[in-house]
Amino acid sequence: MSQRSCLSVILAAGEGTRMKSAMPKVLHAIAGLPMVAHVVKAAEAAGATGLALVIGHGAEEMRKAAQKFAPKAETFVQEKRLGTAHAVLAAREAISKGYDDILVMFGDTPLIDAGALAAARQKLAEGAAVAVIGFRPPNPTGYGRLIEKGGRLTAIREEKDCSEAEKKIGFCNAGMMAVAGKHALRLLDKVGNNNAKGEFYLTDIAEIAGAEGLDVVATEAGFENALGINNRAELAEAEGIWQARRRREAMLAGVTLIAPETVHFSHDTEIGADTIVEPNVWFGLGVKISTGATIHAFSHLTGATIGENSEVGPFARLRPGADLRKKAKVGNFCEVKQSTVEEGAKVNHLTYIGDARVGAGANIGAGTITCNYDGYSKFFTDIGEGAFIGSNSSLVAPVSIGKGGYIASGSVITESVPDDALAFGRARQKTLPGKGKELRERFASVAAARKKAAE
Ligand code: UD1
Ligand code: MG
Repeated sequence: MSQRSCLSVILAAGEGTRMKSAMPKVLHAIAGLPMVAHVVKAAEAAGATGLALVIGHGAEEMRKAAQKFAPKAETFVQEKRLGTAHAVLAAREAISKGYDDILVMFGDTPLIDAGALAAARQKLAEGAAVAVIGFRPPNPTGYGRLIEKGGRLTAIREEKDCSEAEKKIGFCNAGMMAVAGKHALRLLDKVGNNNAKGEFYLTDIAEIAGAEGLDVVATEAGFENALGINNRAELAEAEGIWQARRRREAMLAGVTLIAPETVHFSHDTEIGADTIVEPNVWFGLGVKISTGATIHAFSHLTGATIGENSEVGPFARLRPGADLRKKAKVGNFCEVKQSTVEEGAKVNHLTYIGDARVGAGANIGAGTITCNYDGYSKFFTDIGEGAFIGSNSSLVAPVSIGKGGYIASGSVITESVPDDALAFGRARQKTLPGKGKELRERFASVAAARKKAAE
């Protein structure tokens, strides 16, 4: 089958009014990736060599987005929504290039599995002209029914056109199908719109191909494959299913998730074996975690790289460009952005590290802030290997602290500090013996006099 060329035609012209959104429906994300991009990924995994995206509503926005998630896709605009067959024909130019297989897919069915698509393509390789992906939903209402006779699919009947007996059929059309490229345009051009909705139904090609004596079959896929998204409740349902799949995959690959249902992954999260993830952790886009790390509870990570055996959180926020090397530690209520925390360095409490390097083995005291922004530009802070930054210090960038440099607590450091130097950036302490007691007595007598005057 791998030698067969395959064009995936993804229908995404629908308006998606029930999403109540300014954005085209299929651009709403699951695991941080537009749902139509999930469909593209499945098509590619099933061996699609060409991609045709049929768009309509929000065409400009769709084109722009497609450049990111499917740069090789050709886009075709379906001006009027006259039905699924009409939509496929919008991509006539691509189909006529002469692919062996045409895979028709829906942009709003993001959980479609590459295996289900490959199974339909396999039927084409075995000689079928049309292979429709079927499924058995708990409630078939609203779906097209698959009408079979002797292992052949004789027709697909839309709910509105079904007889009472046909409505009782539980085997339904998931919507997607594989069509032999050499027959596709001829079959599609024969589709009429003589039905309850007056639309050109893609599903009619099953009957048309059968009438030509061609082989038409149905394959069966799991329910989730056909889950179409029409509103935000269904979007959340699909997200839930996707997350459950991903968590299971992570656990089977050697990641411990203590409370899996509270951990959120993105489509591109990479996480190594023997990493432990405590409850309530959010992996936003672009997170890569090596092996043996611990991500403590309530941490929020985006665009971060986490090295071997390092430790994050609880309640840590790692933003894009946070790069923790081996055995580094970023602890509670710390934020790290666009900074490297080198091997074994510790940023343990209530700290902001932005646009900085924290050298290997350095220790950053509680409440340290890198002052990286003057309201106009960002500046870099370089903290050398083994440096010690006393608690509650502000490092005003651009500034560098040399190797083994030592910063006194509460310092505001505006000038660079050489290797092994000790720097104070604060007023010296003054201690006045007995002065505390004297002050207390004075305040007490003032308060007493005020009270008396008020009587
Ligand atoms: C379709 C199937 C039905 C199946 C169901 C599964 C047909 C005729 N019916 O019905 O048998 O059980 O899916 O969910 O195919 N679209 C366009 N342009 C159009 C019409 C549709 O791009 O002119 C796109 C939509 O945006 C959507 C997809 O095609 O992504 C399916 O269209 P939809 O209207 O949802 O079809 P259903 O009535 O659900
Ligand atoms: Mg639908």
